[in-house]
Order: sequence, then C-alpha cells, then structure tokens
Amino acid sequence: MHMYGTSQVNNQGHLEIGGVDTVELTERFGTPLYVYDVELIRERARGFKRTFEELGIPAQVAYASKAFSSIAMIQLAEQEGLSLDVVSAGELYTAIKAGFPTERIHFHGNNKSIEELHMALDNQIGCIVVDNFSELTLLEEICSNREEKVHILLRVTPGIEAHTHDYILTGQEDSKFGFDLINGQAENALNQAIKSNWLEVLGLHCHIGSQIFQTTGFLLAAQKIIGKLKEWHKSLGFQPKVLNLGGGFGIRYTEEDDPLPASQYVEEIVREVQKQIAHSDLEMPEIWIEPGRSLVGDAGLTLYKVGSEKEVPDVRKYLAVDGGMSDNIRPALYEAKYDAVLANRPLDPVEETVAIAGKCCESGDMLIWDLPLPKAGRGDILAVFCTGAYGYSMSNNYNRIPRPAVVFVENGEARLVIKRETFDDLIRQDLAFHEAVSFNKE
Ligand code: LLP
Repeated sequence: MHMYGTSQVNNQGHLEIGGVDTVELTERFGTPLYVYDVELIRERARGFKRTFEELGIPAQVAYASKAFSSIAMIQLAEQEGLSLDVVSAGELYTAIKAGFPTERIHFHGNNKSIEELHMALDNQIGCIVVDNFSELTLLEEICSNREEKVHILLRVTPGIEAHTHDYILTGQEDSKFGFDLINGQAENALNQAIKSNWLEVLGLHCHIGSQIFQTTGFLLAAQKIIGKLKEWHKSLGFQPKVLNLGGGFGIRYTEEDDPLPASQYVEEIVREVQKQIAHSDLEMPEIWIEPGRSLVGDAGLTLYKVGSEKEVPDVRKYLAVDGGMSDNIRPALYEAKYDAVLANRPLDPVEETVAIAGKCCESGDMLIWDLPLPKAGRGDILAVFCTGAYGYSMSNNYNRIPRPAVVFVENGEARLVIKRETFDDLIRQDLAFHEAVSFNKE
C-alpha cells in the first residue's frame, strides 16, 4: 500500500488525513467527498516562498486558481501570502468575494472579454497578462477611454513545450496562447505596449506546460526570454521589473511519478536567471511563478462508496463507485493515472487487481484501470489520492449528478467549505415549459 500527502492509518485501522478519520468524514458528509489537507497546502506554499526568501530574490508566488477555486481556498491562499492567478470573470469574482487583495491578482486568458477587462480595471487588479495583439489594442483603447493606467505582462511563447519527462523545442510554436518570441511578434507587441500612455509593461510571462518533472524546459525558456530581453534593452531601452515563468511543477500521482522538490525547481530557475542577467546590462527582475497543481494536488483526495461489481471472465473485474468522470474527468480526458486504497481497511492484504469504474453512462468513465486491492464490495470506501488539482474545478453535472461536497481538514478538525449540490441546485436554472419566456418573431 502506498500513501500520499499526509495520509496515514489510525488506530481504528482507518485511513486518516489531517488527523481526521476518513470513514467518519463519509458518515458525516456523504460520498463522493473531496477532502483537502490544509496543513499540506500551507507547507507547499511556504516551501515555494521560503526558497525565494533564502535566495534573497524578490518574488511573487501566485496560486493558479484554475486548479481549485473556492472562497475558502482563495482565503487560504491569502493567509499564506500568495498572489493569485485568475483566468476568467468567474475566478476573479470568486477571489473578490473571498476578499483577496486585488493588487495581488494577475489576470490571464487568451480571450478576455470587454466586460472582463472592465471588471479587472474596476477592481484595480495587480496586472493583466496580455495574450495577443487584439487584446493589446482593446485594452489600450479601454484604458484610454477610462483614462486609467494598468500594469501588464506580455505572455510570450518561447518555442519550448515541456511535458512530464521531456521537452520539445518547437521553434515557432503552434499555440493559441501568447506572442511568439522567435518570429518577432513579441518584439512588436512590446514596441506597441511601451509606446502607450496607458499600459505599463512590468515584464514578460511564459508558461511552458504542466506536470513537468525536470527543470530543463524552464531553464531553456529563461535563456531564450532573457536573450531577447538583452536585445530589447539595447534597441528599446526596456528594463523588465518582472519575469513570470508560469507554473507546471509536477507532482506524484502514482509510484511511477518522480517529481523534484519545489525548492529545486525554484533554485535552478533563479540561478539560471541570475546567470543570464549577469552577462548583460539588465538589472535582476522580480521572479514570479504560478503553481497550481503543486500547491493543492497531493493535498486532496476523494472518498467514494463502492457499489456494483461486474466480472468479465478472464479479462477483469469492475468495481463501480458513486462518482466518476463527473468529479474527476482527468483519467477519461488525459489517461491520467491515480492510486487508491480502501479507506475503511487500508491494511488488509491485497488479493486482486480490479478496475475502478465511475457511474456515468459512458464506457470511458473509468477512474483506475488496474488497482491492487483486498476483496472489496458494496459499502467499502475507496480513497483516490491526489485529486486536489483539476478535480473539483473540472467537475460537471453529466447525467445530472450533483457535484460533491468539499471538506478541509486540519489538526483533527474538519470544515465543510463547499456544500454538496442538491437536486434542486441541478434544476435551479431550469424553466418549466409553460413558464418559459418565449421570444416571438417581431
Ligand atoms: N499558469 C498558466 C498560465 C497556466 O496556463 C497554468 C495551467 C498554470 C499556471 C498552472 O499550471 P500547474 O502548476 O497547475 O501545472 N487540466 C489540466 C491542466 C491544465 C493546465 C492549464 N494551465 C490537468 O488536469 O492536468
């Protein structure tokens, strides 16, 4: 049996997280249930921040709230002194409602609407990460009409695509995000932006991928970007205050995953930036990063109740749980792998390998294809580890399944931070046929 995060077995022989018995959690809050170990999130946040502090580098660690956004989660990010990356009006709204200091919010996205840009300006957020020429022109126009200045970063694509175990040098990148660094778009964008009276360019941003286990991609990105910054310092007199190298730091979903400690990503990135800057007239910029998964991923697990089973002779045995792709779409969408144990008897010896199916009407709705387990059946509780990132945030109501509740545990205490959806929540926006507003042709 493998354990993840801070999970352990208590003296009842049950899986425990944050000092709370998971079986008791299911009795109190039902299943499926997302459970987050708050202390672990704090530890991860502090780890990133501490490394920058030890290196004496001014930095912002911005939590990429797309990984898991909720009022309580944003408040936890605030308690830990993180900044915040939002990518939509909905994420921004959540942050504002959570009382997050707006000057520490960075607004991303490749297609921010006019309304979203106004919302960002109305709330005086820290900066807007401008993604393309059409947004650059639009934002300049909006700011000029409002007679308001705004801080921006320009998102560039440095021609590096990083994946878990490798990276690809793509030259000109075929991506919907950002200004291409190689073909001159980024330089043109910078030229346009620094001429504006309303846009103050703090620096550049890039994000090379997600669930990355090596530092090479980050270091190459830093090299390429700083190479260009040196040129632009000479040609345009541009001195960046900020270099934002995005998120993407990998986590361990299964025993096969072997990520680096957060401190190593940060240290190597900082050293590379220092090295590149040292051979230039540039001053050292602040370094910003945007971890999502690595802050919340392994701090979360999902508890399910086992229901039906089906044996396909000589092929496999399916055990179905009371959730699935509605609360965790990652296996179906990315073939993502997870590990799990029986929360009510994690120490029982393994007897067979089973496939964990969801309850949605779709053959692809599988959570784990090959999981060694004790013989399990209806009523057992399955804990799937490392579901804290992109689980709740990508959840959906397929088959009109209500979204699960979310519980935070810390020091033996559990607090409900997102209520389970009710059936009435599911039909809240529905209008009955006879009361539906009809729009007649004029
Ligand atoms: N910054 C930017 C600009 C991003 O696009 C992302 C993620 C992050 C930061 C945070 O990346 P992280 O540290 O969480 O890897 N739904 C996918 C992941 C999509 C990531 C999109 N961008 C998944 O479930 O694996």
